[in-house]
Amino acid sequence: MKKNAIEVFGEWADLDKDFGMEKNHKDSVNNMINYSTRNLDHFTFIDAGCGNGWVIRKVSENDKCEKAIGVDGSKKMISKAKNILPSYEYHCADLMTWKPDKKVNIVHSMEVLYYVENPKKLINEIYNYWLKPNGRLIIGIDFYFENKISHSWPESCGIKDMKLFSEKDWINFFKGAGYNDIKSWRYGEKEDWKGTLIITGIK
Ligand SMILES: C[S@@+](CC[C@H](N)C(=O)[O-])C[C@H]1O[C@@H](n2cnc3c(N)ncnc32)[C@H](O)[C@@H]1O
Repeated sequence: MKKNAIEVFGEWADLDKDFGMEKNHKDSVNNMINYSTRNLDHFTFIDAGCGNGWVIRKVSENDKCEKAIGVDGSKKMISKAKNILPSYEYHCADLMTWKPDKKVNIVHSMEVLYYVENPKKLINEIYNYWLKPNGRLIIGIDFYFENKISHSWPESCGIKDMKLFSEKDWINFFKGAGYNDIKSWRYGEKEDWKGTLIITGIK
């Protein structure tokens, strides 16, 4: 029987599989962070679906980072993040309903948005309630239509309600929400692996 994503990732936290995700996502995330921070003198940052908080720890080392906040629906991931380094701000919440107290310059999200109940709505909400004017949303997605090798993941990982969209669908979600200067590219394409689909836009 398939389980919901939060439950499965809680089990992964218990099994230390979060460290494997860090290893597998690291190169794509570096590419995303280099892109999103490259022209900024200083920035505030949210990692939506932060897992054990490894991106928050990494981004906080950047002198230009004024504040980095991690949000994840899994209690186990968040308590792991707090145990590793308690000094950072983490929230355990469903991304569909959470909103930051203060809007930020960058919302980053790696391998998360297709698990939420309504990705299109969340991309809208981030535009309206999370981002400052000129703020940037940047997402990385490995489970997408063109990456055929990923289609077996709902079965192999036993996760229900994983939403399979094409690159065009994701771009249209950004367009529909009103983002400007939308760009997309694939990072790490190799043989049957089509790479991480990275999409970004500015408010
Ligand atoms: C594949 S993991 C990626 C974690 C991290 N971004 C990384 O790259 O290592 C997906 C994460 O999204 C979280 N997640 C899934 N659905 C969520 C939701 N509706 N609200 C908040 N977090 C969610 C899971 O708990 C999990 O930690």
